Amino acid sequence: MPTHKLLLLPGDGIGPEVMAEVKKLIGWMNAHGFGKFETEEGLVGGAAYDSHGVAVTEATMAQALAADAVIFGAVGGPKWDGVPYDARPEAGLLRLRKDLGLFANLRPAICYPALSESSSLKREVVDGLDLVIVRELTGGVYFGEPKTITDLGNGQKRAIDTQVYDTYEIERIARVGFELARKRRNKLTSMEKRNVMKTGVLWHEVVDQLHAREFKDVQLEHQLADAGAMQLVRWPKQFDVIVTDNLFGDVLSDVAAMLTGSLGMLPSASLGETDAKTLKRRALYEPVHGSAPDIAGKGLANPIAMLASFGMALRYSFAMGKEADLIDQAIAAALATGVRTYDIKSEGATMVGTAEMGAAVLQQLDRLAAP
Ligand code: IPM
Ligand code: MN
Repeated sequence: MPTHKLLLLPGDGIGPEVMAEVKKLIGWMNAHGFGKFETEEGLVGGAAYDSHGVAVTEATMAQALAADAVIFGAVGGPKWDGVPYDARPEAGLLRLRKDLGLFANLRPAICYPALSESSSLKREVVDGLDLVIVRELTGGVYFGEPKTITDLGNGQKRAIDTQVYDTYEIERIARVGFELARKRRNKLTSMEKRNVMKTGVLWHEVVDQLHAREFKDVQLEHQLADAGAMQLVRWPKQFDVIVTDNLFGDVLSDVAAMLTGSLGMLPSASLGETDAKTLKRRALYEPVHGSAPDIAGKGLANPIAMLASFGMALRYSFAMGKEADLIDQAIAAALATGVRTYDIKSEGATMVGTAEMGAAVLQQLDRLAAP
């Protein structure tokens, strides 16, 4: 059995709390002979800043580059509002994405049957929802230059962010979207703002051309990103896979997450290019929810998005689809027993904390894995 090297980066806020549950899950996997995982741990975000004055050290970057997968908690919080822009906690995550070449961010939004009442939308709108947002992650306005604030000398300042996309960047993310759609319900919706943005015009053109060249069998649809946002809350079950740029993907995936009942439920995978020789790809797995400073340290956070993110690592980095399915089933089964963290609380449910929810999932794993 190959050894899989994981770098755990718990980060800030609720990051360490939800990561603690992943560590127990990794222990469970090792103990049951489901793979052989070795872990290292490092600091990122505000935690790295407090110890080293930077959002991620060179040593941690080297560990990340050497790992088979990075498992990431969350970064940021009001404590670091005043730190220099380049050292802000988020800069650590952005550097990891950029330097590891993690251009494809997969954000599935699945509505667990037990949770369709927790959504702010009507049950029939979200029941059985299963879509994936494929977000471009290393380009666009997040990284485009110039990115500046200039003093104009007349009491005014000017801030500039730059949205840039080259053909190859659009093509490779669209390819991820088409290939994923083929394995699912065979429908891809591309979202941009070609009515206002040149990057939108090129995005639309490149996606169309790739479709005509390689993916005619996949149903392709284009939506303007604002209309797409509206459709996401109107009738989200029309979507299978959505492909979109870095900034629209950031916004739309928060919307999609909330459809499922809670931000605490949504995992994500950030993937690089597959190496033609080794067939390996760099990868980072993180929950979508962020550091939630308001509940940090209280043992209240929902660990499900973090646990499901580890499940995605099994699926996408280690070809352990069966084991990933097992984790998803254990999560659904734990929810079906009626346990709820406070973000997904509902009437008649048993309110539990982070560790209890983690334990409930492990208990279901024990049951499901029993011979
Ligand atoms: C996300 C987060 C990040 C982003 C922040 C923390 C930089 O919101 O992963 O969605 O904007 O990409
Ligand atoms: Mn976000």
